[in-house]
Amino acid sequence: MGQRHRVAIIGSGNWGSAIARIAGQNVKRYPDTFEEKVGMYVYQEKIDGRNLTEIINEEHENVKYLPGIKLPENVVANASASETAKGADLLVFVLPHQFIQGVCTELKGKVPSNVRAISMIKGVEVKDGDIRIFADVIEHILGCKCSALSGANIANEVAEDKFSETTIGYRAGDVESAELFHKLFDTPQFRVGMIEDVAGVSLCGALKNVVAIAAGFCDGLGWGDNAKAAIMRIGLMEMKRFSEEFFDGVKAETFTETSAGVADLITTCFGGRNRRCAEAFVKTGKPFAVLEKELLKGQKLQGTETAREVHAFLKARGKVDDYPLFRAVYSIAYDGVKPQDLTNKL
Ligand SMILES: NC(=O)c1ccc[n+]([C@@H]2O[C@H](COP(=O)([O-])OP(=O)(O)OC[C@H]3O[C@@H](n4cnc5c(N)ncnc54)[C@H](O)[C@@H]3O)[C@@H](O)[C@H]2O)c1
Repeated sequence: MGQRHRVAIIGSGNWGSAIARIAGQNVKRYPDTFEEKVGMYVYQEKIDGRNLTEIINEEHENVKYLPGIKLPENVVANASASETAKGADLLVFVLPHQFIQGVCTELKGKVPSNVRAISMIKGVEVKDGDIRIFADVIEHILGCKCSALSGANIANEVAEDKFSETTIGYRAGDVESAELFHKLFDTPQFRVGMIEDVAGVSLCGALKNVVAIAAGFCDGLGWGDNAKAAIMRIGLMEMKRFSEEFFDGVKAETFTETSAGVADLITTCFGGRNRRCAEAFVKTGKPFAVLEKELLKGQKLQGTETAREVHAFLKARGKVDDYPLFRAVYSIAYDGVKPQDLTNKL
């Protein structure tokens, strides 16, 4: 038997906990491939006076982020990211994107460069007029190869074993990593596809949240299904054009044929937290920051943040007008433009 792989999940929110549950089950299905213990980094919080790590390790439930779902007992919570990652050679990054820099900086120099990472983060980083996907941020900081996983995956449905598909995007020539992560996550109820396109898979996951904000505006305005379908079509075209314009090696079929592309866009524009908060934004007139606190109970809203980052990037490149839906979402969320004006310049 060759060296077995040790898995660490870096993150334990709604999706982090759902994916840790699957990994915890699959390592037991493949004992020749994986070690049984799956470490899970948990940002420490007190719940009714008790540490969240203690609750997870004793009751096997993330009562804050995935209540009502039991985690396998071999998923072990740890409040330190570097201790969780120690000795692991498969690192799964599943944090809201605002925390990734901090956590990766903590891990820098502590993980060997031959580890394989996968990013499940739906967002982009914009700095000094440049844009990066988080698989690139992770690769850059840690010096290891990083794939991406994204798809039509509302965490609670996956955690309840309702059927869904997802997509792993892998680097050119690195199908080996994709196959290992496929084995770690694929189940009869959670079907994992693979495509050689880390950027396309990552950008689909990030940009669809901006389109979901527009879909939520539509719902809040009571515009109906035809309008929402139009927003989704225009959104998908802008997502694809943006990715092809600013990233190398992006494949058109990632957008039209994979779960990461069109399927995730559909699910996010009908379910999901971004759509829900945008609908409430129109109906209540409350700012997004207030709605995030009121409706999401500690979960993070990503679509508005990504809209702001994409807008900053496009502005730096003088391309804001080439992406009218992205511009409209930004202007409504941040510039006081009326939601009713969403389609004016599309
Ligand atoms: N929830 C879903 O349905 C879903 C599905 C697919 C992908 N994703 C993506 O997965 C990523 C993680 O989302 P999630 O749903 O697991 O998270 P979440 O929004 O449910 O939870 C927030 C997480 O952030 C952690 N946290 C809070 N403050 C922190 C800090 N200062 N430093 C480090 N961590 C901190 C919390 O402990 C918690 O684990 C996101 O990019 C999201 O878009 C989510």
